Amino acid sequence: MPDTADSDAFIAGLPKAELHLHIEGSLEPEQMFAFARRNRIQIPFASVEQLRAAYSFTQLQDFLDIYYQGADVLRTEEDFHDLALAYFTRAHADGVVHAEIFFDPQTHTDRGLPFGVAADGLLAGMKTAEERFGITSKLILCFLRHLDEAAAFATLQAAEPWLDRIAAVGLDSSEVGHPPEKFARVFAAAGAAGLKRVAHAGEEGPPAYVLEALDLLHIDRLDHGNRALESPELVTRLARSGIALTVCPLSNLKLCVVGDVAQHPIPAMLKHGLRATINSDDPAYFGGYVADNYRAVAPYLDRRDLVTLARNSFLGSFLPDDAVTRHLAAVDAFAA
Ligand code: ADE
Ligand code: ZN
Repeated sequence: MPDTADSDAFIAGLPKAELHLHIEGSLEPEQMFAFARRNRIQIPFASVEQLRAAYSFTQLQDFLDIYYQGADVLRTEEDFHDLALAYFTRAHADGVVHAEIFFDPQTHTDRGLPFGVAADGLLAGMKTAEERFGITSKLILCFLRHLDEAAAFATLQAAEPWLDRIAAVGLDSSEVGHPPEKFARVFAAAGAAGLKRVAHAGEEGPPAYVLEALDLLHIDRLDHGNRALESPELVTRLARSGIALTVCPLSNLKLCVVGDVAQHPIPAMLKHGLRATINSDDPAYFGGYVADNYRAVAPYLDRRDLVTLARNSFLGSFLPDDAVTRHLAAVDAFAA
C-alpha cells in the first residue's frame, strides 16, 4: 500500500456496505452509562474506563457474557432509535452508504420487553439515518443458537407483524455445540415467509457447520466462515457459488479466532476467489468500526483488493440489482 495517510483517506472515502453488524454490539461504554442514567438502572462498573478494561476476551463466550449484560440498559424505543442513529453516524463517517444490521430480539423479549420496542426503535433509527445521511439499511432478525428451536419459532411468530420490514433471519451467539442443524425447520419457515437467510458459521465452529448452514439452512450469505478455509472442497464450493462471506478482522483478533493480524485469512480468501467482505461485528467491544477493519488488513493487500472488498459488499448485499449496479459504479468512479 502507499503511505498510511493516503491509504486511510482512500479507505474512508471508498463507498461501502456493511453486512455484519450487531446493533447491540455498537453500544459504546459512554452510551451504556447514559442509557443506565436515563433509565435509572445500576450497572456493575464504576466508570467508562473500568468497563472498557473488562473488554478482554480469550474466546467468543467471554465476550457474549458481557455483551448480553450490557444490552440490559436498552429499555425503550428511544434507546434503540438512539443506538441505531449513533451507529449510522459513525458508519457514515467511514464511507458506509448501505448497512444490513442484526438485532437479537430474544435478548430483549427474555427480559420482558415487547418485540416491538426493539424492532420499532431500530426501524425509526434507520429512517432517521436515511433522512439525515442518505444511508439505506435493512434489518436482520437473529435467533440465539444457545436457546432452543421452540424459542426461535416463538420469536418468528412474535415478529409476524414486522416481517414486511425485516429482510432476513440470522443465527448468532455461542457456536460450538449449537450446530446449524438445530434450526433447519425454523429457517425453512422463515424462507417460506419470504425472508433471506444468513448464519454465523465457521467462526469457532468446524467446517462441518458451514456445510450444514449451506445444505440445511439454505443460507444466502455466510457470516464469518473463517474455518471454511480448512476444507479445500468447501473453498471450491464457496468460490463457485459466489456466496458472500461477511468477515470481521478486529473481532477475529479480539476473540482469538486468529492469533495475529498477519495471519488473518482475508488475503487467502481473495486469492481463492471467495466473495469476502469486511465488517465490524461488534465495534464498541472490538475496537473499531468498519474503516478500522479495512485498515487492519490493508497492509497485507493492494489497492485493487480494497476495491474488490468494497465491490463485494454490494454484490453480497440484499439490495435490488439496479441499486447494486449504481453502487458498483460509484466504487469504480471513486477508485478511478
Ligand atoms: N453475537 C454478537 N457478536 C457475535 C459473534 N461474533 N459471534 C456470534 N454471536 C455474536
Ligand atoms: Zn457476528
